[in-house]
Amino acid sequence: MTVLSGIQPSGALHLGNYFGAIRQYVQMQHEHECFFFVANLHALTSVRDGKQLRELTVACAADYLALGLDPERAAIFVQSDLPEVTELTWILTTVTPMGLLQRCHAYKDKLAQGLPADHGLFAYPVLMAADILIHNPDLVPVGQDQKQHVEVSRDIAEKFNTAYAPVFKLPDPYIIGTTAMVPGVDGRKMSKSYGNAIGMFEPEKDVRKKIMSIKTDSTPVEDPKDPEKCPVFALFRLFASDEERAEMERRYREGGLGYGEAKKRLFELVIEHFRDARKRREELERDPGYVRDVLAKGAAKARASAAVQMKAVREAVGI
Ligand code: ADP
Ligand code: TRP
Repeated sequence: MTVLSGIQPSGALHLGNYFGAIRQYVQMQHEHECFFFVANLHALTSVRDGKQLRELTVACAADYLALGLDPERAAIFVQSDLPEVTELTWILTTVTPMGLLQRCHAYKDKLAQGLPADHGLFAYPVLMAADILIHNPDLVPVGQDQKQHVEVSRDIAEKFNTAYAPVFKLPDPYIIGTTAMVPGVDGRKMSKSYGNAIGMFEPEKDVRKKIMSIKTDSTPVEDPKDPEKCPVFALFRLFASDEERAEMERRYREGGLGYGEAKKRLFELVIEHFRDARKRREELERDPGYVRDVLAKGAAKARASAAVQMKAVREAVGI
């Protein structure tokens, strides 16, 4: 099978990106042909500083490598290194109904907040469809919030196939239920844009500070607590062994456990879990040449794959 996914370099990657997406990438690269990229064109809808975007793009690629993506197994590349994607985006816009995009949440949410939305944000799912369809993947590993966008890619592929010829496979989102929505320190979905994210590569003291600041209710220490309603527990269960999770769950329900204690243990588990990745990330920081080489090699591989699909697309539409 073919697998493809990407993440916007609009800020430092966080635990939500890891459990919702990257962990699946790392597993899937052992079994499938994989394409993983840094979605810098998508990030243009929020980052308006060229120097910053350039830095964030390389940092995101280094994060991928530190977390275990292997350039020998997967094509790791930057979205803008495939100019074919923007060509395909235009072609796909011509078969995309307006109503489909009007229903998409990124655009709808912005309108609902009374904020001005630009055409880039409106057309964002079409660019995403081009990213995906240009490699004909079977599966797209993402968190819950991206499910709708993958479904839109499917709809657009169907529209194209019906209008022209069966060029595109219909991709499926690949979502792991237990990690589909990782909460941030305020209990909402962890996101780069909400200021509630915990990054796995932040200095230890910042990770500690953020974990200690996770929002909890004011139930007294001695009272029983509901683990299902607590963001500390939601994060804890991602890291703890089955035994330790069951034990913590029991202690929540029994009473006598302070949130501070649960947070302290969560901090230890986070640092332990990412110890090797943090070390690799520091090494990569000192070797930007290596990261650039990986991206060049990945782009070459991805362009070869895109060329095959674009030939079929151009032939179908008559250009
Ligand atoms: P952000 O919301 O921080 O900007 P992105 O939209 O760039 O994150 O998401 C990159 C990938 O990580 C997507 O597959 C997305 O579904 C996943 N993801 C992001 N935040 C979370 C979260 N809190 N829980 C689970 N998955 C997430
Ligand atoms: N829109 C995705 C996000 O914000 C990033 C992305 C761009 C993507 N193109 C993609 C994800 C293609 C999967 C497949 O997370």
